[in-house]
Amino acid sequence: MEAERAKRIKELQKEKDVVILAHYYVDGEVQEIADYVGDSFYLSKVATKVPQRNILFAGVTFMGESAKILNPEKTVVMADESADCPMAHMVTPERIAEVRAEHDDLAVVCYVNSTAEIKAVSDVCVTSSNAVRVVKNIPQKNIFFVPDNNLGRYVAEMVPEKNFIFHDGFCHVHKSILAAELRAAKEAQPDALVLTHPECTQDVVEMSDFVGSTSEIIDFATESDAKKFIICTEMGVFFELQQKNPEKKFYSVGHRQFCPNMKKVTIDKVEAVLNRLTADGKGVDDIVLSDEIIERAGIPLQRMLELAE
Ligand code: 13P
Ligand code: SF4
Repeated sequence: MEAERAKRIKELQKEKDVVILAHYYVDGEVQEIADYVGDSFYLSKVATKVPQRNILFAGVTFMGESAKILNPEKTVVMADESADCPMAHMVTPERIAEVRAEHDDLAVVCYVNSTAEIKAVSDVCVTSSNAVRVVKNIPQKNIFFVPDNNLGRYVAEMVPEKNFIFHDGFCHVHKSILAAELRAAKEAQPDALVLTHPECTQDVVEMSDFVGSTSEIIDFATESDAKKFIICTEMGVFFELQQKNPEKKFYSVGHRQFCPNMKKVTIDKVEAVLNRLTADGKGVDDIVLSDEIIERAGIPLQRMLELAE
């Protein structure tokens, strides 16, 4: 990024008391300027600790909503308000009520990639980096895991002592990483390790050397002695992987490893939002959630933060 633009953005942030949080899937240029970059769990923890009055989220809606729920007194603005994760909408409160009525001793475990409305009717949230730990710590025997089927199935394998009820939500980006293409990528790079996000389908997970969140994939590659890695998640992680490991080689599987919503977040939009925002959090449409939703959705999010420790 040009130094002039970086300087302008930093000045605007200082003047308007704004912290920028970015997910690993957004453009490298945005990751470069952000104050904190991480996976969903890291970003939700960071959001509770930053001193700034305003949070600018470079990610998708559910991430900004979580930051707002955990910090109702702050203004949270999205770099692009229309950047939304389709999976977050793949379960309804009605389906959750039905399953609750059918099972005793049930916990509704909601992947953080869900709307605030869904969090409000769930018992505990999880992210891909803490789901196994959190589910192990839940007292209930029956787990209704929403909305992601793939992550639910992966957690169920790791926690066989629980009885899982699955939902049929999915991430279209991870679902389009195909086992046949991974096989071909492995043949082309036989000495590469395969690092995979648990939103991928079971056949891809089974062909992998490591399964973890975006941060965990980056940490694994950085700490590993291996020199080549096939990456089964969204391409945004390549920026940090390459920054931290300039001497290592990273390969994608196919041509569809792009989240169109994460890619809506650009440096131009970040700068435009900063220009419109005032120091008291006015001037742009911030995330607005009702007091009731904030209160109810805050319970499973706080519970996740406690159980993940
Ligand atoms: P992480 O929590 O691993 O960063 O993943 C978020 C996400 O949206 C995966 O598709
Ligand atoms: Fe949602 Fe998938 Fe994009 Fe993650 S990569 S934000 S789960 S659509």
